[in-house]
Amino acid sequence: MRPAGKQPMDIVKNIMKVIEELNHLKDVDTILDRVLFQARQLTNAEAGSIFLVHEGRLQFSYVHNDVLFRAQSGNKHIYTDFSLPIDDKSIVGYAALTGETLIIDDAYALAPDLPYSFNSSFDRESGYETHSILTIPLKTLRGNRVGVIQLINARDAQGQVRPFTKQDAEYAPFFANHASVAIERGIMTRELILRMMKMAEMRDPAETGAHVMRVGSYSAELYSKISVDQGRYEDEVRRTKDLIRLAAMLHDVGKVGIPDAILKKPGRLNPEEFSTMQWHTVYGAALFTNATSDLDALCRDIALHHHERWDGGGYPGSLPHDLSKVNGVCRQPLAGKSIPLPARICALADVYDALGSVRSYKDAWPENDILELIRKERGKHFDPLVVDAFFSIYDTIQAIKRKYQETDSQPRH
Ligand code: C2E
Ligand code: SIN
Ligand code: SIN
Ligand code: FE
Ligand code: FE
Repeated sequence: MRPAGKQPMDIVKNIMKVIEELNHLKDVDTILDRVLFQARQLTNAEAGSIFLVHEGRLQFSYVHNDVLFRAQSGNKHIYTDFSLPIDDKSIVGYAALTGETLIIDDAYALAPDLPYSFNSSFDRESGYETHSILTIPLKTLRGNRVGVIQLINARDAQGQVRPFTKQDAEYAPFFANHASVAIERGIMTRELILRMMKMAEMRDPAETGAHVMRVGSYSAELYSKISVDQGRYEDEVRRTKDLIRLAAMLHDVGKVGIPDAILKKPGRLNPEEFSTMQWHTVYGAALFTNATSDLDALCRDIALHHHERWDGGGYPGSLPHDLSKVNGVCRQPLAGKSIPLPARICALADVYDALGSVRSYKDAWPENDILELIRKERGKHFDPLVVDAFFSIYDTIQAIKRKYQETDSQPRH
């Protein structure tokens, strides 16, 4: 609830402090990617996945597989929606339950007296052949169970699959502690952002959390596609993608400054109410005017410009220096490439998601109508480059949509 007697801009100033702390933090997907990469390098494993504990289950959260997909083209797989109970029936469940590291030489030749069995459905569906597996529980020093990392098919110097060695497994405790602390911090970053958005939107946390996760993920994947196509270096893309996910999650943070009577109005807004609503872009950007970090600058660009149109008919244009002196006249809209690319990306992600969602003032649109609108608005509302990227990664977009559905009460990692 908004505290009685507090003005919206006071609330805005209060949360600025929280946002500043975000500058030192990283998004959990980037952390999982690095953790998996490092663990595979240590052991020369060609594939691996990470499961994170979420609502008492192990949620499939990240995957690499050098044989089936290269890092960039495999993006949709990280959004696979799949979880297992923490029990002794599966390999990862057993590791999480007991805290034991498991070295398995051949997944298809497990001793029959073991409580767990190997789930071969992934192999059957993909044509991949799992042989050796190293499964490491992820626990923090305080003993918090974070999840499980599973490394698959170690390779010898000749490239042949070999069993994982005792030495491989010796890295495990060091690695698990190190990784678990970083992952926990990444999860906290997301939860912090989701709490802030809940404050800003004052809506059902389920709806807000899912919308925020989807818009962040769509934007991150669109950016990744566009910049890889432009020949950017992978390291640079990975870093910026992480920041764009966080900044896009905050695109509507300025709604904290919009009165409840307008924000939660069950029907259509009249023109005056809509022009008040449009200030959410400026309020959001005002949180990041002392842009000292890349994340700050991205947050400001996206908050301010996510309702611009490629053809120049959007809002609100340039950020005034002193909010108290501003009236509508100052807000000159931008057009085309003068709109920052991350904002052009978030514009499409936001509208795609808003149209597919129920709002207090509208039903969800059928998917085909939404795609038709996006095609129709190519070069009008939306940057053609972004529209083309959207259709070329449409399977990834759908995987994200399935993973973060409205019923979620919490983010999945
Ligand atoms: P939002 O609900 O997140 O919508 C984001 C954007 O998606 C909108 O930006 C608009 O470009 C697009 N969009 C959403 N619903 C529709 C729709 O039914 N038809 C079409 N053609 N486009 C749609 P916009 O218009 O600048 O609105 C910004 C925010 O203002 C919205 O965010 C929402 O919070 C609020 N809003 C806009 N119109 C109304 C309304 O009639 N009633 C209420 N209660 N809120 C509204
Ligand atoms: C997996 O398919 O990688 C996990 C299932 C299992 O541990 O058997
Ligand atoms: C960029 O990636 O920033 C340049 C491409 C564009 O502005 O569309
Ligand atoms: Fe908005
Ligand atoms: Fe939005």
